This record gives sequence, structure tokens and C-alpha cells, in this order.
Amino acid sequence: MRPTTCKPLLLLTKEVCLPLKWGYLLLLLLTTLIPRPVSAQSTARTALSTDSLPRLVHKNGRHALSVDGAPYLMLGAQVHNSSAWPAMLPKVWPVMAALHVNTVEIPVYWEQFEPQPGRFDYSLTDTLLAQARTHNVRLILLWFGTWKNGSAHYMPEWMKRQPQLYPNVTGKDGKPIDSPSPHAPATLAADIKAFSAFMAHLKAVDRQHTVIMVQVENEPGMWGGIRDFSPAAQRLFAAPVPAQLLKALGKPAGSAGWRDTFGDNADEFFHAWSVGYFIGQVAAAGKAIYPLPLYVNAALRDPITFTRPPAYESGGPTDNVLDIWKAAAPAVDLLAPDIYMNEDSRYLRVLEHYNRPDNALLVPETGNQAGNARYFYAALGNGAIGFSPFGLDYANYAAAPLGTPALSAEVLDAFALNYRAFEPMTREVAQLNFEGKLQAVTESPQPAVPASPTVTSPQTPGPKIQPQVLKFGDWEATVAYGPREGIGANPQPIGRAMVAQLGPDEFLVTGAFARVNFRTAGAASGKAWQFMRVEEGQYQNGLFKPTRIWNGDETDWGLRFTSAPQVVRVSLYTR
Ligand code: DGJ
Repeated sequence: MRPTTCKPLLLLTKEVCLPLKWGYLLLLLLTTLIPRPVSAQSTARTALSTDSLPRLVHKNGRHALSVDGAPYLMLGAQVHNSSAWPAMLPKVWPVMAALHVNTVEIPVYWEQFEPQPGRFDYSLTDTLLAQARTHNVRLILLWFGTWKNGSAHYMPEWMKRQPQLYPNVTGKDGKPIDSPSPHAPATLAADIKAFSAFMAHLKAVDRQHTVIMVQVENEPGMWGGIRDFSPAAQRLFAAPVPAQLLKALGKPAGSAGWRDTFGDNADEFFHAWSVGYFIGQVAAAGKAIYPLPLYVNAALRDPITFTRPPAYESGGPTDNVLDIWKAAAPAVDLLAPDIYMNEDSRYLRVLEHYNRPDNALLVPETGNQAGNARYFYAALGNGAIGFSPFGLDYANYAAAPLGTPALSAEVLDAFALNYRAFEPMTREVAQLNFEGKLQAVTESPQPAVPASPTVTSPQTPGPKIQPQVLKFGDWEATVAYGPREGIGANPQPIGRAMVAQLGPDEFLVTGAFARVNFRTAGAASGKAWQFMRVEEGQYQNGLFKPTRIWNGDETDWGLRFTSAPQVVRVSLYTR
């Protein structure tokens, strides 16, 4: 049975075909396969400054990463921690090609960069730049400096050998914790010096902006404690809270210490401020030399249960201290969540937390399970400027439990499916998202259905599930995942869809394992409608080039996206 939205087709066909020859000519013109410029693209090159330095741009609480003067959607992947060495790079590039990434996130190690005090070794950075250019990808370089996952393991040896000068934090019990102290002036000075040299070198050798962003440190903060209790830290904790922070939090100026000002949150907020303030100074020094976009990534706290450290890493930019970090580190352009939560509700909550008018959403790391591929769409739906699963190379290392394959074809295929569809249209999609014209969703797991003795076939429809509804004024797009519209779900929640508005009645649609349909809404509510034309194709140099028209089975029950990277441009009409 056809869905009811298809019925008007017969009526409408009659009415459209019968009238005057002008109407017929118009229809002919509309259905001609002439590539047309897309409204989004027409503004893409003009909306932003022509300044070619990568930078973040903001408008109406939305964000874009501008690269070469236009919005850029980062289709990323991050390599394993020890994969940036020249001998390992041949195991990196083939995976990046298979994934169709346009950006590779890859570390730069302080221990390699400054083997002796003040003697900088640029060779590894230069190798990364040269090979990235050969493989036609951009880079986000990760400065593994004072902090890497809360520890100082990437400090050069000459620093590790002087723990008094470059100390770790002191726990509440007076014992050292394996995490650098943010209250160590010599550590701060050394990091500023090294990071400045690194940024100066990039400025000198990367005129073509192969490097589009830099991550300052990696998941800073401390595990196994809540803050530094060293004598220096104790003095600061008892001193008045900095006026800069009070102002940013809208608190009255005063001379109260941290405990009196923040009560039970004082220890955690103090460490967040201390780490943020340290990194803010490193970032500011680098940025003064070469103002690339800079970000700091966070090991997250549970966004639903709201525990306290040491249940999670203390001091990093977790969702509860984003305002503190903004005040402490204004040279850092954005704070970014590393999302290793696989529960739908938690994952989606994190995306919402980090998409703020004062913070562009970037997912610089997420677990490399195939099931996470769908969250690329959820990130886009939250305005993301980029997305990057972690640990995608053939370095034969598995962060996953021992015994699981280092990297499976299933994982590569799952993420590549997204990037193959988006690769030709990253500029258009970034511009549409920047303008608030794009919506994207993912399938959520459905509650288990109790086994029924009458269920004998896998074809038996599951429970009725309401489609997700994307609102575009007089049109709504519906997204469903079952075998028939609004019924059932995929066996695993792998569905995803994106709809972006190109004109009053024109949309760009893509997805996987999902069915997208439309209906009239708003002032047009109740009006009969039909697809005027559904063109499959892809963007080339800013123009949508159709390869075929979908009709019949391909449109009568909604637009069905399966495991192929398909993009369609849709025009609709009402009668
Ligand atoms: C998060 C870190 O930021 C990465 O460098 C890496 O250690 C992963 N965790 C491992 O899962």
C-alpha cells in the first residue's frame, strides 16, 4: 500500500499535465538535468573574510571553521598515540584514504621536540607536514606537552629528571600524584617556550595552512585526586578568588577565598581554574606568534549522574567548569569533548553541553566502534565543525580490550560511509550548518520488545515507532528506520539522516539505514504535496551535478538510504 502522501500524485499529475502550455514548459525546464548553483554555495565564498588563515567565525550563536576563507567541515580521524613517528606513518595514510578523511589529527611529542633544553627538533613536524601534503589532507596537530591524559609523560627527559623544578601535584594526603602541578612556574615557562617555538616554526613553514588547528595539551587535569595540595597551591586556595573569574561568573567582587566562594565545589573549581589558567598562558603565547585556532580536549564526567572527582579527571574542561575555563583561558578558541560514552542519552547530552553560543562544537575524539559512526550526524545536528574517531591506523594497537582486532573492516566501513557521502560537499554542508539550515539526527536504541510466540519471521514489523521530525517552516522532514515508514527499527541503532534546506521547497538529503519523507506543515499544513524531482548526485566545484533522477520505488515510500553513500537534491511542491 502506498503511503497517503503519495496519493495526490495521481490527482496532481492530471492537473499539472492538463493546463496551459506555459505550465508544461515550466515543468520541462524544472526537470531538465542542468546543474544549478546551490543557494548555500553562492554565499559560501562571500560570507567570510578573505583572510586565508584558518579561524573560527561566529554568527547568531552558530560557528564555522573557516579554512581558505570559507566554512570547512572537518571529516577527521585521530591516530594512535605512538603513530606519529616516521616509521609508523606508512600505517597511517592508507587508513586515512580508506576513510575518506580530509583532516588527520596527529600528535607532536614534547619529548621529541625538545630533547635538550632550548634545542628544538623540527624534523618530525616537517615530516608530518610533507606527508600530509602528499596525501592531500589537512592536519590538526596535538601538542602533547605538560599534560597528556592528566600526566606529564611526554615531558622531555631532562625535565623528568628534575622533579623538584617540574613537580607533580601533591594529594590531600601529602603524597605525589602522577599529574603535573599547574602551580609550577618552571613548567609553565618551559611549556610556553617550547610551544612558542613550535608555533613559530609552523608559521614559517606552513604558508599553505596544511595545519588548520592545534590542540594545546591533551586531556589536561588530574586523575586520582581533586586538586593540588602543595604549599603553593594551598596559599592560592586561601587567597581571594581572582576578580577575573568572579566577574565572568557574575559573582560580586570580594576578597573571599575559594572555599567561602564556592563551598563544596571549591576544590574542583580551583583545579579547573589553575589548569585552565596555565594552559591559557601557553595558548596565548603561541597565538601571539601564529594565531591558528586552538582548542583543549576534555576527558568527560558523566553528564547524567554528575559524580565528583576522583570519579572523573579533575581540572579539565568538563561540562560543569566550561565557564571557568572560558574565563581562565580566553586564548583557547574552543573546549572539546572526547566522547567515549556509548549510551545514546549520554552521548547526545554531551553534544548539547559543548554546543554553546560561546563554544563551537568539535568532537576531536570518539570511540572507534562501528556503532559510533552514526553520531557524526548527531554532531552535525548540534552544529559541529568537525568529528574524529580515535585510533584509526594500522599500528596494530587496540585501545579496546585485548583480544579484539586492532582495526576491523567493519569499523572502517562504518565511518567511511559517512565521509564518502560528505567528502564532495564539506564546504556546502559547513555553510548550511553555519546558517542554521541543516538538521541531522541518529537512530536511538529502542526498548526491547518482549518475545512473542506469534513472531515467526524477521520480516514481522516491530512496534510502531514515531519518526523523528525535522521542522523547516512550511515543510517537515520525517526520519524513520524500520522496514516501513514509522514501523520498527534497524536491528542495531545505526540509522542516520541529514536534511538541509536549499530553498523554500528544495532540500539536500543524505543518510544511511534510514528513510526520509516529507510532509506539509505550518501555513501549508494539510496541503497535498509531492516530490517534483529527486536527483541523486554530488557537488563538484560548488555545483550539484545530478547523475540520475529517483522516482517510482525509490521515492514512493520515502527516500530510502541504505549502505551506499548517496546524496539527493529534492524539490517539492504543493497543490
Ligand atoms: C583519550 C586520549 O585523549 C587519547 O590520547 C587516548 O589516550 C585515548 N583516550 C585512548 O582511548
